[in-house]
Amino acid sequence: MKVTVVGAGNVGATVANVIAMKNFASDVVLLDIKEGVSEGKSMDMMQAAPMLGIDTTVTGVTNDYAATAGSKVVVVTSGLPRKPGMSREDLIGTNAKIVKGVVDQALQYSPNAIFIIISNPMDTMTYLTLKDTKLSRNRVLGLGGLLDSSRFKYYIAAALKEAGMPATITDVDGMVVGGHNDKTMVPLVSYAAYRGIPITKLLSPAAIEDAVAKTKKGGATLTQLIGTSAWYAPGAAVATLVGAIVTDAKKLIPCCVYLDGEYGERDLCIGVPVILGAKGVERIVDVKLEGEEKAAFATSVAAARETNALLATALQ
Ligand code: LAC
Repeated sequence: MKVTVVGAGNVGATVANVIAMKNFASDVVLLDIKEGVSEGKSMDMMQAAPMLGIDTTVTGVTNDYAATAGSKVVVVTSGLPRKPGMSREDLIGTNAKIVKGVVDQALQYSPNAIFIIISNPMDTMTYLTLKDTKLSRNRVLGLGGLLDSSRFKYYIAAALKEAGMPATITDVDGMVVGGHNDKTMVPLVSYAAYRGIPITKLLSPAAIEDAVAKTKKGGATLTQLIGTSAWYAPGAAVATLVGAIVTDAKKLIPCCVYLDGEYGERDLCIGVPVILGAKGVERIVDVKLEGEEKAAFATSVAAARETNALLATALQ
């Protein structure tokens, strides 16, 4: 099974590398517009293959979409990453045209592919992809919720440790819905648990509030520290999404998808729990949000709609 990753920057290259390490795809094509970069990075990955037991073939190409033909999944990481002080939304002017161009070309060669959008502002870029391609909504999704949920789990585990509970991170469960947006994403505190024990029974309200605040600015904190957007966790998250599709795993994962009445919303793409399998988004799990979480989701929806409204100008 072939997977294409467009963009061989930090995120795209890490996606290709993690997919190869997980060994679930026969071929990964890494495409970039910069001559030699994807070829070099792919060769580097392949030179590690004998040591890591990798059988996946990673091939780097420069802007050669013919080489991506017949892909089951196309991952789009193209565009500028944010710099310190920038919001993801600040990137729309540059990235909208880039994403549209990439998706149109990739679709010509892989007419049955499922598209995973990473480029920011991701919720709006996913919406653009859906509208532009007119693909059925199960075939277009964006990465946000899984990454933000993973960051949420990390901060919950840290808070548990701080509270004297030496929790292992994989025993922590938590989900983030809403937009992939520093201000409006919605970490669902009421569903977060340590091996089934609600975190509200283990952590003080202040500790929970702190974990939520750190989760929301998780990406921005890294951008500030590194000088550009993160890639290890985003790369692992994308590889998880691709893996669920390629292996038909039917995993429940929060992803950015097009809503058509679910969660009481229509005509936008935003993060909600879905079941991911061979057909892409096989089901949207419509959970009734309540109280503050419901209100926060509505705020996040409003913010995503505001960014979507900028698309027409960005594409001119
Ligand atoms: C981040 C980018 C991938 O949150 O949006 O790190």
